[in-house]
Amino acid sequence: MNGLFLHCRPGFESECAAEIQTLAAAQGVAGYCKAKAASAYVVFVTSTDEEALALIASLTFNQLIFARQWFRILAMTNDLDINDRIAGLLPSLNLAPPSAELFMETTDTNEGKELQALCRKLARPLEVALKKAKLLQDSASDQRTHICFLSTTAAYVGVAPSANSSPYLMGIPRLRFPSSAPSRSTLKLEEALHTFLSPDEREEALQPGMRAIDLGAAPGGWTWQLVKRGLQVIAVDNGAMAQSLLDSGLVEHRREDGFRFRPEEPVDWMVCDIVEQPSRIAELAALWLAEGWCTASIFNLKLPMKKRYQEVEQCLEIVRNRLDQTGRHYHLACKQLYHDREEVTVFAVVLP
Ligand SMILES: C[S@@+](CC[C@H](N)C(=O)[O-])C[C@H]1O[C@@H](n2cnc3c(N)ncnc32)[C@H](O)[C@@H]1O
Repeated sequence: MNGLFLHCRPGFESECAAEIQTLAAAQGVAGYCKAKAASAYVVFVTSTDEEALALIASLTFNQLIFARQWFRILAMTNDLDINDRIAGLLPSLNLAPPSAELFMETTDTNEGKELQALCRKLARPLEVALKKAKLLQDSASDQRTHICFLSTTAAYVGVAPSANSSPYLMGIPRLRFPSSAPSRSTLKLEEALHTFLSPDEREEALQPGMRAIDLGAAPGGWTWQLVKRGLQVIAVDNGAMAQSLLDSGLVEHRREDGFRFRPEEPVDWMVCDIVEQPSRIAELAALWLAEGWCTASIFNLKLPMKKRYQEVEQCLEIVRNRLDQTGRHYHLACKQLYHDREEVTVFAVVLP
């Protein structure tokens, strides 16, 4: 089988499929998607391996909103002998170029969770077999080998460019919930900062003394991330903020409407986690950036039940249109993060 395998959030297969279909068509690559509801993956089938290779090379992984991870399919085996799966996988793995590492994956589903023990059991002997065949731990290689088990006898085998894919197994970062953070939402902003910014960019963009506005801040999970990095935060929300944040001396709480609030002077960041119609949030963020009230913004778009891909595209268009009018250069990125639920996260920055 030729094509691309894409991991996504369970329930978002049709959005992931619509997106890759659109992007492939724009690259002149014809193909079709196999996407089963709640399976947490999509397969984009191409006629030839060359087309799949050209597609993964021409697209930037970060431009995909709904795909958490991807790889080019080398083979699909669905009749693995449960007494010797390695023998069944080796012919497919022999098709892979020498690679730097091996990702043993499942899908983000209950069935997938049950297969994780099998992945752990097989990882070591597979690594040994691949090293023996000089197919693994090639430090010069920029490729990563993926094996994704769908059941105890079926797996996709493939390869992804390390620099043009997620660095995380199944695209899921392992972030630990910080016990002093006031809400689990804190992980959304932490994941966003890790996804959209490199370590160097994070250090430069989030320096002690910088100023941020957090719209819809209560109880303070996002504010906590900013305070942790030494930023001064105005937290805008009618709801109560965690006392520990108010005691930090870095947080000013304003019980105001986030849509009406305006900063007294420009700030470095505006973040927004208000649950509202996505187009209203997109317009609000676009206004802040276009007016120069903030330099950078991270905001969440809570998605409707239907036409979610179209809704996200329309919201991004609102931001693009507004920023294009300013004549300023900017960077805009959007991703459905692992810690996002029925939502996506947008990062936008106006460049100097
Ligand atoms: C998902 S919660 C935010 C969680 C927060 N980011 C955290 O990490 O703890 C959404 C918040 O938006 C607030 N909110 C809703 N509408 C608002 C508005 N118009 N202005 C300001 N805050 C609003 C709610 O009071 C609620 O606290």
